[in-house]
Amino acid sequence: MDKKSIRDIDVTGKKVLVRVDFNVPMKDGKITNDARILKVIPTIKYLQEQGAKIILMTHLGRPKGKVVPEMSVKPIAERLSNILGQEVIFAGDCGGPESHKVTAEMAKGQVALLENVRFYPEEEENDPTFAKNLAALGEIYVNDAFGTAHRAHASTEGVTHFLPAVSGFLTEREILVLSETLENPSKPFVVILGGAKVSDKIYVIENLMRKADCLLIGGAMANTFLKAQGYNLGNSKVEEDKVEIAAELLSKAQKSGVKVVLPLDLVVAKEYAAEAESKVVAVQDIPEDMMALDIGPATVEEFSKLIAQAGTIVWNGPLGVYEFDRFAVGTNKIVEAVAAAPGKTVIGGGDVVAAVEKTGLTAKIYHISTGGGASLAFLGGKVLPGVAAMLDKDK
Ligand code: 3PG
Repeated sequence: MDKKSIRDIDVTGKKVLVRVDFNVPMKDGKITNDARILKVIPTIKYLQEQGAKIILMTHLGRPKGKVVPEMSVKPIAERLSNILGQEVIFAGDCGGPESHKVTAEMAKGQVALLENVRFYPEEEENDPTFAKNLAALGEIYVNDAFGTAHRAHASTEGVTHFLPAVSGFLTEREILVLSETLENPSKPFVVILGGAKVSDKIYVIENLMRKADCLLIGGAMANTFLKAQGYNLGNSKVEEDKVEIAAELLSKAQKSGVKVVLPLDLVVAKEYAAEAESKVVAVQDIPEDMMALDIGPATVEEFSKLIAQAGTIVWNGPLGVYEFDRFAVGTNKIVEAVAAAPGKTVIGGGDVVAAVEKTGLTAKIYHISTGGGASLAFLGGKVLPGVAAMLDKDK
C-alpha cells in the first residue's frame, strides 16, 4: 500500500488519536459481537509498546447529531478494559472539556475512549472547527476505522488537515488485501453479489466486470436481472425502474466475455415472513401470487461448482432473506462452498459475515472485511476519503 502506517512514523511517547470503527451490534445495552474491537487490538498493543498515549474515537449507530443515551460507547470502554486487562478511561464527550481533561492527564500506555462522535452534528458535516478541536487532542492521527473510510466525516477526513495521518494495522491490511484481490486476482476470478437492491450495486458491477471472469448474482437484486431476461417474477420484489439498466449490464457482460450466472431456481413463498410456507420452483415457474425469498438447490449446486474452480472469490451481500432462518439456507450453503474452496476468499458485508460466523467457518476464509459499505465502495473502484487523506509513503 502506498499510504504510511504507524510503522512509518515515530509515535514514541506521543498522544495518538486513533479513529476506530467500534460500530458493533448491541442488544439491550450489551455487545453481541466484538469482532470489530478485537481486530484493533494489534494496533493498540503496538502503540502501547512505543509508550504512546492512545485516544480512541468511534461512532456507534446513527444518532443523527444528537445525544442518544442507548448509543453511548461506555459499554465498549468496559469491554475493551476486559480485553486489554487494564482500565480504559471513558470520556463522556468527544472533543469537549472532559476529553481535553482526560487526554491531558494520560500516562504512557494508557488508553482512553471518547463518547460517540456522531452525537455531534458537526461530525457528519465534516465541520473544520470541530475537526480542528478533535485534532487538538493528539499529536498524530491514526485511521484504523476501515469500515467508515468511505465517509468524509470530521473524524475520518477533516481531522487529517490538522495532524499527520497514518493507517493502523487493520486499515493497512484491509487496503492491502482488497487492492491485491482486485488488481492481481488468481484466475478464474469469481464475484458473488447479493442483497436487496441492484441500484446500490450498479457501479460495483460495472467496475467488477472489467476484472472478474464470472459474476454469481443472488438475493432480491437477482429478481431485477431475471425480469430483464423476460422471466415473470410473480409477487417478488423487483426494481422496475432498474430493469433496463440490468438488461444493459447483462449485454455489456456478454460483450466483455464475463459470465453472469443468475438463479436457476428459487425458494418462493406467499408472504414475506419468517414462518411462511415455501417451495422450490424453477425460475420460469414462479407462481403469480408468490415471491422469491432464497436461491434454490440447483442454483446452490451451480454456484458451488464455479466457486470450487475459482482462483479468487469475492462475496458481498446475502443470497436470500438472511434474517429468516428458513430463507438463509442458500446463503449458508454458499458459505460452506466458499469455505471449502481452494481459492483465495474475501468476504464483506454484515449479513454474509454473520453467516460465516454462525456456521463456525471463519477460520476457513482468507479475509473477512470489517467494512460492509466501505468494502463495497472499494470493489466499486471508488476512492475512499478516509484512505485518500492519509500520508503517502513517498512523502
Ligand atoms: C458500518 O457499520 O458499515 C460502518 O460502521 C459505517 O456505518 P454507517 O453506514 O452508519 O456510516
